[in-house]
Amino acid sequence: MSNGPVFPNAAYPATRLRRNRSDAWLRRLVAENSLTSSDFIWTVFVREGEGAAVPIDSMPGVFRHSVEGLVESAKEARDLGIPALALFPFVEADKKDPEGSEAINPENLICRAVRRLKEELPDMGLVCDVALDPYNSDGHDGLVSGGRILNDETNDVLCRQALVQAAAGCDVIAPSDMMDGRIGVIRSALDTAGFQDVKIMSYAAKYASAFYGPFRDAIGSGGFLKGDKKTYQMDPANSDEALREVALDLAEGADMVMVKPGMPYLDIIRRVKETFAVPTFAYQVSGEYAMMKAAAQNGWLDNDRAVLESLLAFKRAGCSGVLTYAAVEAAKLLRA
Ligand code: PBG
Repeated sequence: MSNGPVFPNAAYPATRLRRNRSDAWLRRLVAENSLTSSDFIWTVFVREGEGAAVPIDSMPGVFRHSVEGLVESAKEARDLGIPALALFPFVEADKKDPEGSEAINPENLICRAVRRLKEELPDMGLVCDVALDPYNSDGHDGLVSGGRILNDETNDVLCRQALVQAAAGCDVIAPSDMMDGRIGVIRSALDTAGFQDVKIMSYAAKYASAFYGPFRDAIGSGGFLKGDKKTYQMDPANSDEALREVALDLAEGADMVMVKPGMPYLDIIRRVKETFAVPTFAYQVSGEYAMMKAAAQNGWLDNDRAVLESLLAFKRAGCSGVLTYAAVEAAKLLRA
């Protein structure tokens, strides 16, 4: 941690901090942080089939898009200046099995969506999640045997998942599974296959959190999940351990790291940024989004102000950018 600033100011009444807050023009001049649409990675859900976007009950304003619908929405995001999308699949029950085999099918929904998006929007960044939970009939991020989540066996499948995504044209592989050692083996699998320019954004400090509930509904994994994810995702009580996770992922070749969830973990973001000085991202997760929307729908929060304030907080904490379901909405507010 830094030693912090020195305060040479005179005391009150010579110093009055309210002077610099008196007018909007001055508040703009002295603002220490700012938010622009370049700070957002828009997290989106894609589904099979055609037709209108399907709303997600627990995430007002968020939809499962058909591939073609997603292409249209992505154009809007691009025109608003949003640099990248992070894609998540809604996988039908009949495509789930204990091996999560659909994850490594080069024709799976995510790969098809990536190819279509790259055809239509070659300059938009695409981030793909690497983990088995959408595809695994136990709802876990890894392979399960006798109730245990297998680490090294899972890593083999994750490498194959990353390779089909990279071959489809994904720019950034984002492993969210929290297996040990996966960044190193994915990096070398990508390099061996000639994908040395494909980037890795590691979900480095990902906590076993209650705030993922609405996401699991959105991708249809919630009803399938057996038990919890505490043997691989981090204990919310821990902070030093997050630094060890980030250190390992960077040593294994991560280009960027992520902290997840976001707002309850701003302290972790700050420590990671100060310790490693690498591009650091936060994921404002489904439960954070749902809380804001639910309160706003009740008239208990001013939606627009709460959305922008929550996103600015990530910049202040040290983030390069934020993965958020509110990206398009926030970009419109910033443009207004
Ligand atoms: C799973 C994954 C999760 C999220 C992103 N990738 C959920 C989980 O770990 O159970 C959560 C995102 C959110 O809640 O918005 N690999």
